[in-house]
Amino acid sequence: MRLTPLALFVKHDGQSARAAVTCEYKCGNACFHEVPNTSGGAYFGDIVSSLNRRGLLKGGAAAVLAVGAGSALAACGDDARNAGSATPSPNGPPGTGTEFGAVAPNKEDAIVIPDGYDQSVVIRWGDPLFADAPAFDFDKQSAAAQAKQFGYNNDFAALLPIEGQANAYLLVVNHEYTTGPHMFRGYDKEAPTDEQNAITQAAHGLSVVEVHGEAGTGKLTSAFGKYNRRITATTEFKLTGPAAGSDFLKTSADPTGTKVLGTIANCSGGVTPWGTVLSGEENFNGYFANSDKVTEPAAAARLKRYGFTPGKTPNRWERTDKRFDLAQEPNEANRFGYVVEVDPWDPASTPIKHTAMGRLKHEGATIYVTKGGDVVSYTGDDEKFDYMYKFVSSRKVQSGGGASSMRHNLTILDAGTLYVAQLTGDHPEKVDGTGATPSDKGFTGTGRWIPLLETGSDGKGKSLVDGMSAEEVAVFTRLAADKVGATKMDRPEDFEANPYTGKVYVALTNNDNRGKDGKQGPDEANPRNMNKNGQILEIDDDHTGTKFTWSLLLVCGDPKAADTYFAGFDKTKVSPISCPDNLAFDPYGNLWISTDGNALKSNDGLFSVVLDGANRGATKQFLTVPRGAETCGPVVTESRVLVCVQHPGEADDATPENPLSHWPDGGAAQPRPSVAVVWKKNGGRIGF
Ligand code: FEO
Ligand code: CA
Ligand code: CA
Repeated sequence: MRLTPLALFVKHDGQSARAAVTCEYKCGNACFHEVPNTSGGAYFGDIVSSLNRRGLLKGGAAAVLAVGAGSALAACGDDARNAGSATPSPNGPPGTGTEFGAVAPNKEDAIVIPDGYDQSVVIRWGDPLFADAPAFDFDKQSAAAQAKQFGYNNDFAALLPIEGQANAYLLVVNHEYTTGPHMFRGYDKEAPTDEQNAITQAAHGLSVVEVHGEAGTGKLTSAFGKYNRRITATTEFKLTGPAAGSDFLKTSADPTGTKVLGTIANCSGGVTPWGTVLSGEENFNGYFANSDKVTEPAAAARLKRYGFTPGKTPNRWERTDKRFDLAQEPNEANRFGYVVEVDPWDPASTPIKHTAMGRLKHEGATIYVTKGGDVVSYTGDDEKFDYMYKFVSSRKVQSGGGASSMRHNLTILDAGTLYVAQLTGDHPEKVDGTGATPSDKGFTGTGRWIPLLETGSDGKGKSLVDGMSAEEVAVFTRLAADKVGATKMDRPEDFEANPYTGKVYVALTNNDNRGKDGKQGPDEANPRNMNKNGQILEIDDDHTGTKFTWSLLLVCGDPKAADTYFAGFDKTKVSPISCPDNLAFDPYGNLWISTDGNALKSNDGLFSVVLDGANRGATKQFLTVPRGAETCGPVVTESRVLVCVQHPGEADDATPENPLSHWPDGGAAQPRPSVAVVWKKNGGRIGF
């Protein structure tokens, strides 16, 4: 393989290789600002030391159904699997392995895949979703065109089989953020034009697009299907749950506090068993200007806790849309930061923002359904030293598939209890910040879920946090979690439940502030100071209950480094892996991990990890994405792997005149965020 040495990335304190322009537009420069969580220490080991670990393990309910980031909708097509109809791996029992030649770290401007596999692009930024939409023209963009074309910077992807149509699917994709300097020639960062602002707003949100498979391969091609839809930063959403209608959510345009225009910063997501798609509003703070103009102490403290910063925003939407100016509309920002739910099967439906699930920088939301039919949603708050949450619904899934079942199912996430996680290590005295394993089983511990907010079937909330109302807990959830001793994690990203075992996996992507002067030091779940490569947490959860046990599956990085751990597997036989972000399961119970911000001087990639048997911990790179991109939204089915290639060519010195990447079109073309699909040349099973 040809390796291309390039000095592409700005290093932040020698940590994750994320370009400064990515930080500016994607995460509101979180890399450069003080971390928003300055709450007191939260390590209440004594409270949970009495947990009976053995009892917890016994109590863990088996899954009948687990769908989420990267999973095909279970019970709905050949590619889907659930535990009830689990097909053991031809390689052995579930979760015991994949077979392909690992892709070496590289800096190619291409998707690099194993020998014997093929690939194609499914859909690119600007591709038309409707017959009356124009073809993409980089030099002739318009907001009207963008509103009918595939959006920018795809992150989460769901692939939902269309019933009754062989090899046809709905592809539902999030569009997390835009970068004006890479989308337009001659872009004036200080004063984007009104049309440019309208284009970037229209490039946000989600796309729903029908895709068709090709016989004999895994190739997918987009079509002008009847379900095709664009949701943007100006599409109407309905606010539900205990904060809906509260004073915190009222604005001059919406005195009812129940209708909000648009969704932004949509990172990862999940698929529900009732056929809808969940999407996490993540770094919404970066879209709102002038937090310094809000001087009322309680309101200012709330803004600070969510990382709002003074003055202008990177996108400058506040110039043309007063909703994004906190000085004019102080409550508009309280209407973002939720889990949103979209019914892709009804293009006329009004999507929902669920306030019962709390307001935070939701990475995504992953649904798990217990054997008893209880619905649990897991979500991470992606910020250094922020928390992990779950929502346990009091409603069960109604099957039947008709309109009345769907009406019921769309309220499942509006009634139940929101919890935040507190973790305790088994070997606190042996955790020294170096990453040295404290026991022959590695890093292990127990935990409990602390209830914050209960929402009744009447939609009314009950606060479970002293000194806060239910509305306050729903809208300022981070402040509620600060009060109860939640554990400060290393940027919790995706959750995913194993469809065979019910164990829940969490990507903790990195935290270069861990153990820094004045900051919280290491603990057993976050065991490294200046953590630049991240770790994968494995939770054995009593899904509807409040207790769990946990261990670290992977402590990521260069396997040659002493501070890495691959579940005890031989480190000479694994791929280097850095900054885990999105998780997915294949139909055979193997975990797949995509990365964002590889700190090991290679392009980001997608990896498979063995969870069970003698090879537990074996980690292999399946593909790498082009220069400057991160790997998102993996979907791994029997016959294909989908990845969202987000921000190809994104680097600080890249411009439309001097692009870093020409992927996917090649030649002199501009880079375009796109969804790609990979399949086995002979049409066989992925990873076998
Ligand atoms: Fe948008 Fe947490 O990554
Ligand atoms: Ca992410
Ligand atoms: Ca990411």
